[in-house]
Formats: sequence, structure tokens, C-alpha cells
Amino acid sequence: MLILGIESSCDDMAAAVVRDGRYVLSNVVSSQDAIHKKYGGIVPELASRRHLETVIPVVEDALRQAKVTIDDIDVIGVTQGPGLVGSILIGLSFAKAIAYVKDIPFVGVNHIVAHPMAVFLEERVRGQGSGVKGGKKEILAVNLAPCPLPLAPDFPFIALVVSGGHTTLFQFKDFGDYEILGQTRDDAAGEAFDKVAKLLGLGYPGGGVIDRLAKTGNASAIKFTRPYISKDTFDFSFSGIKTAVLKYLKDNLTQGLSLENSGMINDLSASFQEAVVDVLTDKAVSVCQVNNVNNLVVCGGVACNSRLREKLRERTEHNGIRLFIPEPGLCSDNGAMIAAGAEHLLKKGIRGSLDMNAIPSME
Ligand code: KG4
Ligand code: ZN
Repeated sequence: MLILGIESSCDDMAAAVVRDGRYVLSNVVSSQDAIHKKYGGIVPELASRRHLETVIPVVEDALRQAKVTIDDIDVIGVTQGPGLVGSILIGLSFAKAIAYVKDIPFVGVNHIVAHPMAVFLEERVRGQGSGVKGGKKEILAVNLAPCPLPLAPDFPFIALVVSGGHTTLFQFKDFGDYEILGQTRDDAAGEAFDKVAKLLGLGYPGGGVIDRLAKTGNASAIKFTRPYISKDTFDFSFSGIKTAVLKYLKDNLTQGLSLENSGMINDLSASFQEAVVDVLTDKAVSVCQVNNVNNLVVCGGVACNSRLREKLRERTEHNGIRLFIPEPGLCSDNGAMIAAGAEHLLKKGIRGSLDMNAIPSME
């Protein structure tokens, strides 16, 4: 079965063609970073207007790269929520229109629940497709002859979805059978990265830049308090750490000493990153231990973070937990994860109807 996955919940327009919920034939992402950069965050109205312009070329590109036509597509999977209502509506309306005209089914997919489904996908990326949001990636046509599949987690598994909009811990007992064990009470981890990057004048989105600068910074230079809320909950809180960075800057940037000439950006980046990574890693590992689950999936844009990946690897190895992190290009928002999510809904007999609406605050 060939599924066209369309994702437009936020500022990226993404489309992918996935065969049998497993093989990624194409995975195209059109980023709007350049548009929103100057505002230091996403401007919803600009995002949806741009989506209107990109939805057709991005889908055409995904079909072309997969070497198929729209007539070969069996089903369309599309993000129904959560996200920005105007943005979701562009992808959803487009999907409904194509489904109607071509007389094929479509399925509305929950974006956050779809993120962990990326771990079941196999992608062959050519060139530098490094998962950094932006640009389009070229995907090699996948060899559809039987080939060794990447290891996939066993059920039950814990999934940490960590992105610009969400920081959520799930327990998946099966496809579509999951419960939320913890989530952020304020900022998402990626949002904290972006806000701190803004404070440091590093542009938007800032997660990748902080990751890069932190490599040459001293992570112990500034001891930021780790925001655990309490050890009894698996909820997160990241807004305090952003305030701590702001306070540190106010206290330490005296007259004549600016961010540029103080040499503190790399140390600040590394120290901030270390605090966030510590909390994410500790909570992810302990939620596995408390629930006696030894498969952990980590996904979402922040899962591209090199220090998070490194620390998770160390801690899970030490605790006998199997760790699964999708390729960077499948961690950040993409259409392939939506196609994978759609495949599992279809198997349960779920189909969308043409009166389906966007659900910006979808649970
Ligand atoms: O999953 P995603 O592409 O979109 C959302 O659903 O939010 O995640 C985007 C977020 C942004 O906040 C971005 O700064 C963050 O992921 N991010 C990173 C890195 N790459 C992207 N955060 C930390 N380190 C990175 N390397
Ligand atoms: Zn996302």
C-alpha cells in the first residue's frame, strides 16, 4: 500500500510517500525558517499563507522523488492536530480535496502520536540530509526486495516526544494504544532552546545553533538548577531555566562587557543544554524503570541534539534499556511519520470523512 503523508501543523510543509508503513520512498520538507527568523518565532498568519504556496509543489516533489504519480497513491494520511489551526487547515483541506477527486480514503493523524511512529520507518537519505530543518532532501528510491530492516522497539515502549511544541512521555502498549505519563507544564524543551537562543542573539530556531556552540563550551561553567518539579512526577518545566539564563546575563553583562566580547556564549550554551539534557535523560530513564519497560523511543526535533543522543546512549546502556532514536530527518517534523501513523489507523478501520475539521488542541 502506498501512502502519501502530509504534515503542515506548524511552520514546515512536508510530504512523503511511504510504502507499507515502512519504506520511505520520498521525504520532502519545505522550511519557513527564513520567513520567521526576523520575528524570533513563528507568526501563524505568515505560516499558513506560505503553506498555501508550498503545498502543491511539495506534494508534487514527494511524488516525483518517489517515482510515482498521484494515481498510484492508495491512501492519504494528513495531520489533523495539534498545531496552528490555519496551518493544519491547508494540509487537511488539500488532502480532502485530493481524496475526493481521486476517490481514495484519507486519514486524520495526531501529530504528536505520529512522531514515535518514525522509529518503524526505514529511510535511505542521499547526501547531507542531516535532519536540520529546512531545504529539501533527496531520498534514494528504496530497494523493495526483502532487505534487513532496522531494529524496531518491542511493545510496550516508552516514547519521549521532545520538540518545539511538546515534551511528552508516553507509554505505548500497541499501535494506537497509549497513555501519557508526563508532559511539560509550561515551555516545551525545544521552545526553551529557541528562547535562550533568542536571548543570546543566535536567531530562530536556535536548537541546532546551541548544539553546535555547546561543543566548544564548558558545560560545568554555569550550574543551572535542574528543573525537576519533583521527583514524583514525570512532568517537565523548562520556563524557569530560560529565566535563569536571562538573570545570569543581567548579572554578568556589565558595562563594557557584551555577549560578543565576553566569550560566554559557548559556555552558556553548553551549560544550558546540559541542564535540559540532564532532566530529559533522567526522566526518560526513570519512567522506563518505574514502569518496568526496557524499550525507549526518543523523537521530535530536539532528539537531533547531539548531547542528548550521547547522554541517552550512555544512560540507557548502563541501565539495560534499548534505545531507539529515528534518523535526524525523521525526528523533526516530516510527512513520513504521518504516513506511518495513518497506516496503523487504517488497519483499525479508521477513515476520515469530508467534514473532518482541524483540531488545534488535539489531545
Ligand atoms: O519536531 P520539530 O521539527 O517541530 C515541532 O513539532 O516543534 O522540532 C523543532 C524544535 C525547535 O525548537 C528546534 O530548535 C529544536 O527542535 N531542535 C533542536 C535541535 N535541532 C532542532 N534542539 C536542540 N538541539 C538540536 N540539535
Ligand atoms: Zn512535531
